[in-house]
Parts: sequence; C-alpha cells; structure tokens
Amino acid sequence: MASYIGAKHEAWDGQPRPLFLAPMSGVTDLPFRMLAKECGADFTITEFTNSTALTREAATSWRRMETHPSESPFIPQIFGGDPGDMATAAEMLAPNADIIDLNFGCPAPKVTNICAGAALMGEPDRLVNMVASIVDRIDLPVTAKMRLGTGKGANNATALCRSLEDVGAQRLCIHGRTLRQRYSGEADWHSIKEAVDAVGVPVVANGDVVDAASAAACLERTGASGLMVGRGAIGRPSVFADIKVGLGWMSEDEVPWVKATEGWYELDEGGRAFASRQWCWDRYIEHSLATVGLQGKWMQRHAIAFTKGLPGAKKVRVLMHQEETNEGMANAISQFLAGEV
Ligand SMILES: Cc1cc2nc3c(=O)[nH]c(=O)nc-3n(C[C@H](O)[C@H](O)[C@H](O)COP(=O)(O)O)c2cc1C
Repeated sequence: MASYIGAKHEAWDGQPRPLFLAPMSGVTDLPFRMLAKECGADFTITEFTNSTALTREAATSWRRMETHPSESPFIPQIFGGDPGDMATAAEMLAPNADIIDLNFGCPAPKVTNICAGAALMGEPDRLVNMVASIVDRIDLPVTAKMRLGTGKGANNATALCRSLEDVGAQRLCIHGRTLRQRYSGEADWHSIKEAVDAVGVPVVANGDVVDAASAAACLERTGASGLMVGRGAIGRPSVFADIKVGLGWMSEDEVPWVKATEGWYELDEGGRAFASRQWCWDRYIEHSLATVGLQGKWMQRHAIAFTKGLPGAKKVRVLMHQEETNEGMANAISQFLAGEV
C-alpha cells in the first residue's frame, strides 16, 4: 500500500513528480476523475463527503463514493467535526479504498460552522487527535489536505504537519492560502516550502498551478513531492498532459487527443483547443455511460466549463436547452466542439 505514497523527494531536479487532480465538490465526479487520469493525472480524489452522513448510510453521500477499477488508487475524501463519525466513516470506506484523505481545508460556512474543514485548523489539538484516532482504527494510509492556517493569528500549517507526521499521517497536501483568504490573493508557495522542509513525509503543493510554467515554478519554489491542480483542471483536464509535455515528462505523440486527431500538428491554437476539448467531452460521456449513466446536471456544468473561452461558446446554453434528453445534449456539445454547429 505504501507504494501509493512513495518517499519524500529532495529539491526538484526537473524529474517527474506525481500530479493530483484536486478534490472539487460539484466537479470531480467519477467520470471526470476517470477522464483526468487518461489526461495524465496520477492521482484523483473524490469530492469531499460528510462523514456523519456516511455513518447514517445517506444514499446521496454513498453515491459520491463510487469508483471504478481504472481509478487506482481510490482515495475518498471525508470531512466532519465529530471525531467518532470521522473514524467510523473511514472504517466503513476502508474495505474499498486504498487511502483515506481528510479535509481540513474547506472554507464554506456550512462546513466551518460545524467546526469541520479549515475551521479545525483553529483547534489544532482536536484536529491532531482526530487524525490519530483514524490512523489507529484503519489499516490504510491516511492523508490530509489543509490550508496555511485560519488567517487569525500566525499560520500553523507547518506545526500541524509535524504533529500529523508524529501521529502517522503518511502524506500531507497544503493549499497555500488561509481560511480567511478563501480563494483570493496569490497562493503562498514559500510557506508551503517551510512545511516541506519540516517533515519527513511527502508534502504536495496546491494553489495556482495552471500550466507547465506554473508547475515548474511551484516545484522549484517548494521542492514538494507532487502538485495538485484544482481550478486549472475545470473544463480543461488536458492540463495534466500539457504540464507533462511542457516539462518533458511525456512526448506529445503519446497524448491521447494528439493520437486521435488527424492533422493535429497542422492545426492552429484554436483548432487544437476545439479538438482536445472534443476528445475530452466524448470520453467524459463514454465514462459516464460505462459507470453512473448520463447525469444531466453534471453534464451541464461540464459542458459550460469545457466550452468556456471558445469562439461561439454563448451558443452552448441555447443548444443545451433545446435538447430534451441527456443523449441529445451529449451529441449537441460534441457537435459544437467538432465545429459542426
Ligand atoms: C468548485 C470547487 C470545489 C472544491 N471542493 C473541494 C473539496 O471537495 N475538497 C477539498 O479538499 N478542496 C476542495 N476545493 C479546493 C481545491 O481542492 C483546491 O485546494 C483549491 O481550488 C486551490 O487549488 P487551485 O488553485 O489549483 O484551484 C474546491 C475548490 C473549488 C474551486
């Protein structure tokens, strides 16, 4: 199992490091995670799920915990303010999971109001005890994702990383912003480096990595043992291959949409954007059909994201509303991306 975690890396020397698709509620559904893997993500994590709801067998929460054999390792992420429910949920998930990830980064009031997510960083003893009891209860690696701190007083991510390493957390991920910042300002990679240097377990850097240049800059600045990409992958799961090709970790000829598109090298930037997004959309639909079925709401959100910034994208909402079935919507978006409407 430890092979899914790996050892801590030294300073970055240009060699490949794992790329993670960030857990994103309302975005990283199962077919999207499967697509991200095909696009070059090495690790995917489910959307965060309420541990108390899982312990109460809530069907909608358990549906978010679905996976597929191609999603290996399978890493469900849970959040909650009740240490007992967190440990019980981790135990319930353990038989089908490879790693359990704990959320200490969510800034949403509905989460922080129950002293869960990033609010727990303001109660460090409670947070560390919670992780210790989960590590005790399950026989799987436990990892945690956090922010730099709450933004009230000094940041405590480095101190927390040390304590979490002591109680047995095997990998840590830091989003370089505080709870108070939410998503504003720039991610502070320098503070992530402080934590990277302070612990012996791998630390993954997260925040504002959107392409090969920012990936290289973040790895140079932090020396992190991996990078996690969130908003840069919304509508653009191709970002993982873009990073790998840009950093010389992968040849462009191996990229699936390059292989699938005749005349790729003759296309201009606009033509490539349409071709890569069409390939991604069609695969998203195929993965949906093979797993959870076509989910209208998920498709609508992804359709808007996949077509954002393309010429004529305004048409997409109209196209979606004209269609009466999910199959119709899937085809209409594919045709738009093929330049046929
Ligand atoms: C729409 C959305 C949903 C998110 N949901 C989660 C979540 O379920 N769990 C989590 O740990 N972080 C969540 N995050 C935070 C991201 O995982 C990531 O830490 C953050 O977006 C910063 O990375 P980025 O600059 O690459 O976007 C979410 C972010 C966004 C934009």
